[in-house]
Amino acid sequence: MTEAELYVVYKGVLMPKLVHTPASLKYYEDFSFRPDDILIVTYPKSGTTWMQEVVPLILSHGDPVVVDTVPNWDRVPWLEETRACDLNLDQRPPPRIFTTHFHHAMMSSSFFTVKPRVIYLMRNPRDVFTSSFHYHGMASFLVDPGTQTEFLHKFLDGKVMFGSWFDHVKGWLSAGEHQHIMYICYEEMILDLQAAVARLAEFLDTPLDSETIGKIAERCVFKNMKNNKMSNYSLVPSELMDQNTSMFLRKGMAGDWKNQLTVAEGEDFDAVYRNKMQHVKYKFFWD
Ligand code: A3P
Repeated sequence: MTEAELYVVYKGVLMPKLVHTPASLKYYEDFSFRPDDILIVTYPKSGTTWMQEVVPLILSHGDPVVVDTVPNWDRVPWLEETRACDLNLDQRPPPRIFTTHFHHAMMSSSFFTVKPRVIYLMRNPRDVFTSSFHYHGMASFLVDPGTQTEFLHKFLDGKVMFGSWFDHVKGWLSAGEHQHIMYICYEEMILDLQAAVARLAEFLDTPLDSETIGKIAERCVFKNMKNNKMSNYSLVPSELMDQNTSMFLRKGMAGDWKNQLTVAEGEDFDAVYRNKMQHVKYKFFWD
């Protein structure tokens, strides 16, 4: 199917129509945040699902019931997706946890006045690209990626779902002065998940002892999370996500782009990255 058939343009950004209907986008526009809400914000393929496992476990002090029994999309729903409208989110006890892939400039008005806590998770865009390329090959509601080089140029130009990685990251990084945001990198979680869990627990005002931190980290390492059917997308019909083509929890590593990009593609990537990120002061884990 064509891009026009599969995607809608919302606030200048492409989004898959299947899960983002006019009603769901209106729901988000009218959504009332509360000061104790927690929002996980990511550009797609940056480790969203991982954070949807870690944060509920921190808030439950390591009790696994919620991650063992509730699919990640209901446990930490995306506010821009159709399911959010049916989940009675206003009835949820605090702290409510949500996800969004929205750019900072796309957020609804309540977000700017209420200022809920935000965890902004970033990943090396080369690995985001790699993960996304495989994801587009297995998800029927996304456009066919075409060749790797074609998809790379679409990605670098921001002509992919949720727009430009560069705009997303720069927008959220510059929001930090005005909002209550914790920045964290996927690579930091790969390097030392226990330390990342401890840092997140502190941000969430949830003191945990080292044994609980260790238990949470152990549950959330890739090989264990891959077996959780509430988080590995095996509940999604194969007509929508064909995990025989590529698993949703695919490799779960930092640096897989080195196995994916050709030398020429890597050089193109570097040139665009240097240009678009030249004024960014933030020290990313991957640099
Ligand atoms: P790969 O395709 O590189 O394996 P998102 O949830 O934002 O769509 O991101 C998906 C990416 O996060 C996938 O990357 C997936 O494997 C990775 N991921 C999910 N859970 C993970 C975990 N526990 N440890 C490491 N990576 C994880």
